[in-house]
Amino acid sequence: MQRLKALRGFTTADKSSNQITNATEYNLAALQTSSDLDRPVVMVNVAVSIQKISQRIGALDVLSIGPRSEIELFGIMAAGFDPKRIKALDLLSYSPLVETGDMHAMKFADNSFDVIFLGWVLAYSTTPAEAAKEIVRVCRNGAVVVATGDFNSSTATHADASQTFNNEETRINSVDQVLSFFGSAVDKVYFRHDPDPPAQPMVMTAFSVKKS
Ligand SMILES: C[S@@+](CC[C@H](N)C(=O)[O-])C[C@H]1O[C@@H](n2cnc3c(N)ncnc32)[C@H](O)[C@@H]1O
Repeated sequence: MQRLKALRGFTTADKSSNQITNATEYNLAALQTSSDLDRPVVMVNVAVSIQKISQRIGALDVLSIGPRSEIELFGIMAAGFDPKRIKALDLLSYSPLVETGDMHAMKFADNSFDVIFLGWVLAYSTTPAEAAKEIVRVCRNGAVVVATGDFNSSTATHADASQTFNNEETRINSVDQVLSFFGSAVDKVYFRHDPDPPAQPMVMTAFSVKKS
């Protein structure tokens, strides 16, 4: 929070047609109002409840995609993951802990990570199945992906012509939809939280990745 307040500027990643048009602008604005939003902790709690993660927590390489603020990363560290093994990527960054880049074309080598957090980020993609393919590329065989989003009954599709993000049209509807982006790369599904709208809009799943 201090670092964010002291900050004079942000770095941002290049725009691409895989991103909803206003992804960077929407999240820069949200960072000013919600930098202390600590909802990612629920994803971290799910991850550390999976035994193959808790058994080797300090030895696992972790990637957070779309942390927005550092809070998500501090939550991952607090759960017992090794800070030296945590990488983070976002379209925008004010922090040395977060690299700027696009989840549809990452600089990381194949087979780099054991755990990947996708906290409320897939809704910003016009091509979530392409994002998923790239995520699987950087996963090791057996890696665990924890992915979340918020339900909305809007019929907007990811490739909607307007391609702008707003909270009324989040494009994430169910665990099955999120798993469908990953297709045959989904192996064991450890956790499913389907929404019960309007009071509980959260969609969350945790699954392991099978690489062919
Ligand atoms: C709604 S915020 C989620 C923040 C945090 N993970 C949470 O759970 O509260 C989504 C974040 O994903 C980032 N994002 C959107 N599209 C992205 C992309 N193509 N590649 C990397 N990050 C992206 C946004 O910049 C934003 O910081």
